[in-house]
Formats: sequence, structure tokens, C-alpha cells
Amino acid sequence: MSGTLERLAIMEAQARQGGGPERIERQHARGKMTARERLEMLLDPGSFFELDAFVTHRATEFGLDRRRPLGDGVVTGWGEIDGRLVYVFAQDFTVLGGSVGEAHGRKICKLLDLALENGAPVVGLNDSGGARIQEGVDALAAYAEIFYRNVLASGVIPQISVIMGPCAGGAVYSPALTDFTVMVEGTARMFITGPDVVRAVTHEKVTPEELGGAGVHHRVSGVAHFTTGGDAEALALVRHLLSYLPPNNAEDPPFLPSTDPPDRTDEELDRLVPEDPAQGYDMREVIRRVVDEGTFLEVQADFAPNLLVGLGRLGGCVVGVVGQQPAVLAGVLDIDAADKGARFIRFCDCFNIPLITFTDTPGFLPGVAQEHGGIIRHGAKMIYAYAEATVPKLSVITRKAYGGAYIVMSSKHLRGDVCLAWPGAEVAVMGPEGAVSVVFRRELAEAQEPEAERTRLVREYREQFANPYVAAARGYLDGVVRPSQTRPALIRALRMLRDKRVRRPPRKHGNIPL
Ligand code: HXC
Repeated sequence: MSGTLERLAIMEAQARQGGGPERIERQHARGKMTARERLEMLLDPGSFFELDAFVTHRATEFGLDRRRPLGDGVVTGWGEIDGRLVYVFAQDFTVLGGSVGEAHGRKICKLLDLALENGAPVVGLNDSGGARIQEGVDALAAYAEIFYRNVLASGVIPQISVIMGPCAGGAVYSPALTDFTVMVEGTARMFITGPDVVRAVTHEKVTPEELGGAGVHHRVSGVAHFTTGGDAEALALVRHLLSYLPPNNAEDPPFLPSTDPPDRTDEELDRLVPEDPAQGYDMREVIRRVVDEGTFLEVQADFAPNLLVGLGRLGGCVVGVVGQQPAVLAGVLDIDAADKGARFIRFCDCFNIPLITFTDTPGFLPGVAQEHGGIIRHGAKMIYAYAEATVPKLSVITRKAYGGAYIVMSSKHLRGDVCLAWPGAEVAVMGPEGAVSVVFRRELAEAQEPEAERTRLVREYREQFANPYVAAARGYLDGVVRPSQTRPALIRALRMLRDKRVRRPPRKHGNIPL
């Protein structure tokens, strides 16, 4: 081997060795893969092309002059997932704790610039101690440059963050700016300040897992869109998620011919909604019975479970599904559900993913906590998101669509393209019991048998108002379909809307209530 080739081979080997056998062993002992192992598992075999393997930092403080690891603690490059281009970076916790300094940050920025210019998704595998303490403000600058690019790329290319270890301090804001955050149970931790600072400032005692583990971010904060049992599961999930996404906002999501017939009817749906309007049922079951092959990738499944959002396919086309879950809190719209729904709707609209809405909600959740928590501005996000979205918008009212919730849930008035209802749908200003109490308060107070009178009035109200035919008579609903016919109806409507184009007045950007 010539001298130059020999030198290259030595440097390549050095770059690949990460933080050395001991640190790699420690990484494995924690159930974590190394950065390179993760990339190998994420990408199609042999497709990875590495960038900047020989980049080093130029800091000298606190002994860094004696430690200049090749690659500077992050592996970056491009590769393929199911034959489609994707840009990737993986922080290497075995090298300086995966901490972000100037050079590390530049590598990620170069990748984001390439991805934005060439219109392909970015997947970031995060496992880092945060800003590299020895590099001071240069480390902070590096983060800021990443955040800036995350924002520029938002709505142009899909960005996915996977948290596979620590992600602390300001570091959390890069994942938070991306479209999806996947957290690995047991090893991922996200917090602005760790348990020690929390204890010092607020005297609260909390473990890292309780403060910022995958479970808490999936169930309580809504920061994590997905959680998985381990590294391998997280990487498989990313591959699956990308199968629903277009490479950029100028292209359509991948069409996947389905063996599930587009005209398939499902008689079970005719019996699925209980007779008793107070009884819940599982909207997931409705969704699974309608979409291709029953596959539905639910997003934020454990956060605000009264609203379901996720990705599926109808007649081979990717669709974003939004639907109330009557089995949880009767499917009310509350603050968290509004945040969850609005963000998902806007994601779908960015990336040309038509929206399918299944409505069954008694309305917005009443209460002091909700009012003081800002249900007005949070609920407004849903209206804004639906009204702003220009992708095809289809909806099916499966049962209740009362009050503001009727308007919000992709109604004709917010420019829903095809709005359908099942025959048992109830479209009215409010539910029968509430309406009768308000309208007939005096009559009920004076009635000889108030309960019998109330029952009679409720029945009368239900017949007159709590059905889909008043809305259908006005053309606010485009049709009333048998539940069993829902899939063929939606697929035909989707095909009809394939070339939908909407013009909007020019503006810098809207001012969505936040
Ligand atoms: C430099 C760091 C580092 C950091 C870890 N290391 N964090 N080096 N800067 N921020 C190094 C350690 O020195 C060690 O080096 C190696 O990484 C592994 O760290 P350990 O502590 O041995 O590992 P572990 O016990 O697993 O603990 C991991 C950890 C802990 C929880 C992440 O290291 C930690 O608390 N680090 C500091 C976290 C933090 O406060 N970061 C700054 C947040 S503020 P050796 O040589 O032994 O392998 C921030 C601001 C960003 O990020 C602002 C952007 C807006």
C-alpha cells in the first residue's frame, strides 16, 4: 500500500473507533448502540456516504488541545431508506459525551443545508451531553445555527428527531423544532434543567426519568410523538414513518398500490356506534376498518387520547386522519387535544397529505381549568389550522357534532371539500338535554310532571334537530352515507380532489394563535 493510502486507512480507522473500546462497552452496557451501529441499522445496507469524518474542533481550553477526536462526536452523511434519499446525523456519546461544539455543530448545519437544497428528509439521532462546556459561547452559537436551519427547513423537508440518550438544556429545542420526536424508553431524557437544578430552585425531588423520560413526554407534555422499547425499535419506526412522507413540500407522498379493494364495504360499521348516545365506542376501530389494510400509524397516541391523529392510506394515497375518540372523555375537545390536532393538521398541509376527519364530540370541555388555561386561544388553533389547510379535506360525522365542535371539525364553512355524515349523526347547537333545559326552563318549572315533560321535549328535540338532515338540507353536509359505505365514498372523493388547487391572498405569514 502506498504511503498516502496507508495514512488514509489509519485515519479512517481512527474516525471509526469512536471513544474507544471502554466507552463503547459502557454504551452497550446501557442497552444503547453506538452512532455507527445505529446508522447501519437505520439505512439500507451499504447506502451510507459519510461526510466530514476527519473534522476536528479547534478549541484548546480545559485539555481539549490534547483531545481532538476525528469527526468531533457526530457522524453525518446521506444514505437511503427503502431506496429513497435521506440525510442523517448520529451523535456519538462515546466521544466527548456527544457534546455539541463549534465543529460538531457545523457538521450538522452542513447536512441541514444540503438537505434543504436538495429536498430530502433529515433524521437526527440525538445522544448528547448538550453544549460542550469547554467551548463556551461557540457551543451556544453552534446550537443557534442548528435551530435557525431547523426553522428554515420547517414545512420544506420532513425533519425527524430520535432521542436515544440525554438531550438536556437548550439542546431540546432542535428536536422541538422538528416535525416528529421519537424517544427511546429507559435511555432518552429530555429536560431544560435536570433534577439537581430543579431541586435547588423549586425544592422538588424528581428522578431524571420522572422529569424527562419517554413516558412523561408521551403521556403528559406531548413533546414526544412516539416512544419505543429500544434503539432498534426506534430506528424501525423511523423507516416506517418515512414511508408515509414525501421527500419535500413540492412532491406528493409515496403512493402504494393496495390489495385492499377501494370499493370494499364493511357491514360491521353499521352496528359499531351504540344506540345509547351516552355510550362510548372506539374510533380507532372505525379508522382501521376504513383505511387500506387496517394500517394506521398513530401519532402522539398517549397524549390527549380524546383526539386521535395519525397516518394511513386510502386507495393507496397517504392521508392524515384526525378523529375524536368517544371512548375517552366522550371525545371532548380540550386544550391538549386542540394543540395536538392543530399541529398535526398543519404538518399534513405542509406536506400535501389530504386530511380525513371523523367527528364525534359533544364540544369543547367546560370548566375553570380549561377557561383559565386558555381553551379560547388553544381551540382557535384548530379552527385556524383547518381553515388554513389547502390539501383535500374530507370529513365524516359519525355521531355528535355539537356547537363549536361542528364548525371546528373540518366543516363546510372552513372549506371542507366533501363533508359526509352517518345517518345517526346529531348536528345541533348543543345536546338535547342541555338545549331543553335552556329553551324550556320555564315550562319545565311549571310542569306537573317535570321529568316526563323533559323526556318528551328531549325526544322532540332529538327528532327535529339531532339528526344530519337539517344540515344536509342546507348543503352544509354533502351527503349522508351508510357507515358500511364509508371507505368507498372517501376513496371516490379523494380521487375527485386529486388535482385540487386553492389560491390564497399573498401575505408574509398568518398569525396563528399560539
Ligand atoms: C463537555 C461533556 C458534556 C458537556 C458530558 N460530557 N456532557 N463534555 N460538555 N456538556 C462528557 C463527560 O465529561 C464525559 O467525558 C463523557 O461526556 C460522558 O459523560 P458522563 O458524565 O461520564 O456520562 P453519564 O454519567 O452518562 O452522564 C451523562 C450526562 C452528564 C447526564 C449527560 O454528562 C451531564 O449531566 N452532562 C452535562 C449536561 C449539561 O448540563 N449540559 C449542558 C446543558 S446546557 P469522558 O472524557 O469521561 O468520556 C446546554 C445549553 C445549550 O446544552 C443552549 C442552546 C440554546
